Amino acid sequence: MEYTTLGRTGLKVSVMGLGCGGPSRIGQSTGNSEEESIAIVKHALKAGINFIDTAEVYRTEIIVGKAIKDFDRETLVLSTKKSTWGNPKPKDVLKSFERSLKNLGTDYIDIYHLHGVVLSDYEYLVSEIIPTLQELRDQGKIRFLGITERFNPDPHHSMLQRALQDDFWDVMMVGFNILNQSARDRVLAKTIEKNIGILIMFAVRLALSRPKRLKQCIEELIEKGQVSISEIDNDNPLEFLIYKNGAKNLVDAAYRFCRYEPGIHVTLSGTGNLSHLKDNLESILRPPLPEKDLIKLKKIFKNADSISGQ
Ligand SMILES: NC(=O)c1ccc[n+]([C@@H]2O[C@H](COP(=O)([O-])OP(=O)(O)OC[C@H]3O[C@@H](n4cnc5c(N)ncnc54)[C@H](OP(=O)(O)O)[C@@H]3O)[C@@H](O)[C@H]2O)c1
Repeated sequence: MEYTTLGRTGLKVSVMGLGCGGPSRIGQSTGNSEEESIAIVKHALKAGINFIDTAEVYRTEIIVGKAIKDFDRETLVLSTKKSTWGNPKPKDVLKSFERSLKNLGTDYIDIYHLHGVVLSDYEYLVSEIIPTLQELRDQGKIRFLGITERFNPDPHHSMLQRALQDDFWDVMMVGFNILNQSARDRVLAKTIEKNIGILIMFAVRLALSRPKRLKQCIEELIEKGQVSISEIDNDNPLEFLIYKNGAKNLVDAAYRFCRYEPGIHVTLSGTGNLSHLKDNLESILRPPLPEKDLIKLKKIFKNADSISGQ
């Protein structure tokens, strides 16, 4: 595994993080037993991943807690989140936070995020919830504060652009992938300046792991005039990336595309399938995609900002 520094947190983190939410929830949404999901987390840790992202709403914190029991807590970076749906009160946040500690079997959280924040809730959360989070940080129970966007309804990053005007956030979780690279100019340019730690979600998601879904997404982008039909083969839209010295397959291309983007520290990979996890570990350590392919991807999708890749 390769490691990097997570921006101004100074935390040493693996360039690939294990995401315990998403469509798989480490297999809890795809038929894994608890033991199989624990095995996924343990395999990731043994392979050198030290960054694990979960959330109260994923209902995978307990599984993560069981999996990390035999590992040195000090070497791990645990990231979990408080849902912000329906604007929680400070007492709700405290209750959730204590439950997350218990679930994970730890007495501190490295990065505690406000989860899936939309622009319309941002001001409320800043005025009502941030003081509680800062208090927990002062008590040493939270090391760094983070915020994650709700990428499906906000593929343009309007909430994060607002959050970047403040200085509360040491870490941000951003949606970024081949099909929506808009975070490059709208978010990453600024986070690089502010040295904010960046975690990437949606690197692959559904569009880049299921050919049928990819086709639908490309059609949608063409319809919206965000991708030009003259620049893409509608039937095999990203096939040009796969060849002997290029990407091994589309998922490989998708993770490598994110991993080397300037400003990104941790690319999250969410899977409940051990063989996929092994493949993804290999992908993340492969070199960047060939320059000519990167140039082409940037050109084709330069105006695309309306889909998440869900
Ligand atoms: N707003 C938020 O805060 C927010 C929102 C979304 C996600 N997240 C976090 O970000 C993490 C990453 O997002 P994500 O889970 O959607 O991750 P992702 O890695 O972009 O995509 C995961 C999807 O790709 C599939 N996949 C993974 N590796 C594959 C492979 N080698 N071959 C074929 N299919 C593969 C998975 O299915 P299999 O299980 O079959 O491999 C799953 O359906 C989440 O787990 C969560 O921790 C946060």
